[in-house]
Amino acid sequence: MLSHLLDREGVESVVLEKHSRDYVVHRVRAGVLEAGTVATLTAAGVGDRLAREGLVHRGIGIRFDGRDHRIDLAELTGKAITIYGQQEVVKDLIEARLARGAAVHFDVPDVRLDAPSGSRPRLEGTVSGRPLVVECDFVVGCDGFHGISRDHLPPTAWHAYHHEYPFAWLGILVQAPPSAAEVIYANHERGFALHSMRSPAITRLYLQCDRGDSLDAWPDERIWSELHTRLASAGWRLTEGPIIERGIAPLRSFVAEPMQHGSLFLAGDAAHIVPPTGAKGLNLAIADVAALAGSLAEWYRHRSRSGLDDYSPAALRRVWRAQAFSYQLTSLLHRFPDHDQYDRRRQLAELQYLTRSRAAATALAENYVGAAP
Ligand code: PHB
Repeated sequence: MLSHLLDREGVESVVLEKHSRDYVVHRVRAGVLEAGTVATLTAAGVGDRLAREGLVHRGIGIRFDGRDHRIDLAELTGKAITIYGQQEVVKDLIEARLARGAAVHFDVPDVRLDAPSGSRPRLEGTVSGRPLVVECDFVVGCDGFHGISRDHLPPTAWHAYHHEYPFAWLGILVQAPPSAAEVIYANHERGFALHSMRSPAITRLYLQCDRGDSLDAWPDERIWSELHTRLASAGWRLTEGPIIERGIAPLRSFVAEPMQHGSLFLAGDAAHIVPPTGAKGLNLAIADVAALAGSLAEWYRHRSRSGLDDYSPAALRRVWRAQAFSYQLTSLLHRFPDHDQYDRRRQLAELQYLTRSRAAATALAENYVGAAP
């Protein structure tokens, strides 16, 4: 996305990707786009398929005590969300980049970065069997939580904030029509469950599981049995189907602060991780690079560093808001190993408040759609 936005500003870039094109377009991630993200993609000319295939949702469901409640996002905030798989966004962006003949290199196994303070950074790697050296004005690490770029910030120049949750999510993709028209978040005493979708024919489901669980511990029968139990609600039935993809991901929160040093900038998961409960990850990443593209363009046009210098402080305001929201929603919906009956009742009281108070529902809704000031 950054490469695409820079191209539109007339700024040249080179993208080095460790994985294959096939791997990145098939890796299943989250799928909730805020209206602002949809607007950014559309304005950048990569929103055509999204407009055709994205599912616009005006509300979300919250289920607890076997009962259904609905947060009317559109009525409370004037904004909706769009369900469109993250890997579909990635697919559209890669196509747009390659159609422009852009330097996007896949399967680069050995990307090395040299980012000395005070001089130009340099990237090296093997592209199609040949060494490639890129002398850069700027390097932007968009290489995820496990990427190499963050380690090139001088150790004394930044701080890492971490929080780990004592559970993980097991996610499955199912070849069956979704059982509800909207995303449903369920708080159950056996643990959290989530009903989502990718298309009118594909359901996406998640279950809270133990942090150390492997997929071996979750045969199909156990997955379906837990989903039926945790998502149960009067008069509602979950449609089963063949499980076509499955994975387990631990939940964590992380922030690198600041997100820049000299000519090296971090964006997306390289700089911050949120638990998937608030569906903020992709939206934060798009907001990061939209801001960065504008600031880089300003630097090339006017040689002004003011936008670049403000990148990290402005991004971190948004990031910490999303951290607080994702933490809060995660706490509200999951079963914690150290919770006792008191904690459980407190959680249910909080959920009830959400469904009875317009103020509480609005607070959730404006964070969920990305409209929190
Ligand atoms: C998804 O559809 O993958 C999804 C939806 C909502 C979330 C997380 C993931 O909070």
